[in-house]
Amino acid sequence: MSYRTNNCGELRTLDIGKSVVLSGWVSKVRLMGSMAFVDIRDRYGITQLAFNEEENPDALKHAESLGREFVIKASGLVRERSSKNKQIATGDIEVLVEGLEILNESKTPPFTIENETDGGDEIRMQYRYLDIRRNPVKENLILRHNLAQEIRNYLSNASFLEVETPVLIKSTPEGARDFVVPSRLNPGQWYALPQSPQTFKQLLMVAGLDRYFQIVKCFRDEDLRADRQPEFTQIDCEMSFVNREDILQNFEGMMKHLFSKVKHVELEDFPRMTYDDAMRLYGSDKPDIRFGMPFVELKSESIDLVGGKDFKVFDSAESVISICAKGAATFTRKQLDALTDFVKRPQVGATGIIYMRKGEDGMLKSSVDKFYDQEALTKWSDEAQMENGDLLLIMAGDQSKVRKQLNELRLHMGDLLGLRNPNEFKPLWVVDFPLLEWDEDTNRFHAMHHPFTSPLESDLKDMEVNPGLVRADAYDLVINGVEIGGGSIRIFDKQIQSQMFKLLGFTAEEAEAQFGFLMSAFQYGAPPHGGIALGFDRLCSLFGGSDSIRDFIAFPKNNAGRDIMIDAPSALSKEQMNDLELG
Ligand code: AMO
Repeated sequence: MSYRTNNCGELRTLDIGKSVVLSGWVSKVRLMGSMAFVDIRDRYGITQLAFNEEENPDALKHAESLGREFVIKASGLVRERSSKNKQIATGDIEVLVEGLEILNESKTPPFTIENETDGGDEIRMQYRYLDIRRNPVKENLILRHNLAQEIRNYLSNASFLEVETPVLIKSTPEGARDFVVPSRLNPGQWYALPQSPQTFKQLLMVAGLDRYFQIVKCFRDEDLRADRQPEFTQIDCEMSFVNREDILQNFEGMMKHLFSKVKHVELEDFPRMTYDDAMRLYGSDKPDIRFGMPFVELKSESIDLVGGKDFKVFDSAESVISICAKGAATFTRKQLDALTDFVKRPQVGATGIIYMRKGEDGMLKSSVDKFYDQEALTKWSDEAQMENGDLLLIMAGDQSKVRKQLNELRLHMGDLLGLRNPNEFKPLWVVDFPLLEWDEDTNRFHAMHHPFTSPLESDLKDMEVNPGLVRADAYDLVINGVEIGGGSIRIFDKQIQSQMFKLLGFTAEEAEAQFGFLMSAFQYGAPPHGGIALGFDRLCSLFGGSDSIRDFIAFPKNNAGRDIMIDAPSALSKEQMNDLELG
């Protein structure tokens, strides 16, 4: 007899009277003397098996020997349940067991395999295959599959070809550290694992494939966070004969399609914001625009509403910037102290916050009343368009530091005031990033995106004299404050490319050694092209309403970059080391 006629999630009232065979795992056993009930579980659901001394004493005896997670096969008759369970899809029926076979026994699992488990993070990572038996984890992987399917459909329908690119390559210029692999056949030489398929997808455009995509593993040896794994997956795309508008339209279309098909959410057109505005208004290149609370400058290059009152903290600061929290004037002293503690944490690194309440009577009360009278405070209140009952939170210092710190505080206030609803989705294109970034440590420019990113045509004139001001034709897709993707129009003009390498401090020889293959391909008719890569794991976690991408990866690494299930990384044997001449 075959293992199953049905799965454990599909029998309904209409099936009553049918003879069926089910296979799966024992989820629960309830022995009640002359009767027993066993829940059998597989990927599709749970069905109750009923055992009865009167009807089948042998099967009942057998049921008594079952343990949790045993693999069993049960045959019997579907019948109506006397006490129905509305919680599960099969809750109206049960299978009265006639034959029971134990296909495999199981040790007692180290944690309960239920929606709510008693297992901690580490133990669940170590026994990930058991964790995946739990609904929430399994559902995440199903969501990931559904998203991948829709992405493939959408892009294939739009004439994109999925092409695989190599994994053993030479380092790619994305700016993180490479993972490297020694070559046995070429002693002393190393492959690098791709940080992205960037150079290959550009070569595919030179090759004339016109539209490429790949759902592809990328590897970056960088510090890990909730939204960063050392190996992660990109939806990597490249298009020929396109400008920025074409790319933004195409991928905005894809995102709307995914949200509609998988999440049943219809998105409006995505707003756009320049990098400069994002930094000025939110202190971040990935602002969460589910809520307002934009920065209001009280002191900057163009305004000073705080000077001349002998308050040293403000007088000595380059920037004084504030946020207005609606209705938060009721915050108690204790709550305000907690905010100060929040910004003083090393992760934020500020020295403190100055605040001003606007009472229901319109009176202004600040923590610096000693220095500022009502008239002075009114200027701040007007600038921030405060209403009665609002709270102004103010930070001072170097512009870039204050922006960063106030961004953290703004997000924290968003959390405290319940303004960051995970079921609301607010996408945003951030555009016009700077082309170059000055690195104080090495005293030279770095490419903010990568060295093949094209400058904005209007800024080309500044390349020679004022390279720090040049903006790139680069864009990021941000949703709810998460950087979901990034891309750019690429340089396809040899002259501009060599100028770029020069700015990045490469000699002609160094550029040749590192990127010669790409440069020589560009001599054979490179079309204008550009592209984008979306973080697939991040997209899944956004859709699944979680902050951690680990929940959406079947076998993730922990924060130390370890796979604690297979215990990797690990040492090599002496023989392997010798073979690789690493010894
Ligand atoms: P970028 O470096 O911006 O661009 O990467 C694209 C997207 O990949 C995701 N991502 C990550 N996700 C999880 N863990 C990580 N460690 C990680 N690093 C990046 C982010 C990010 O937005 N080749 C260019 C794209 C291009 O120009 O077309 C690139 O890789 O969501």
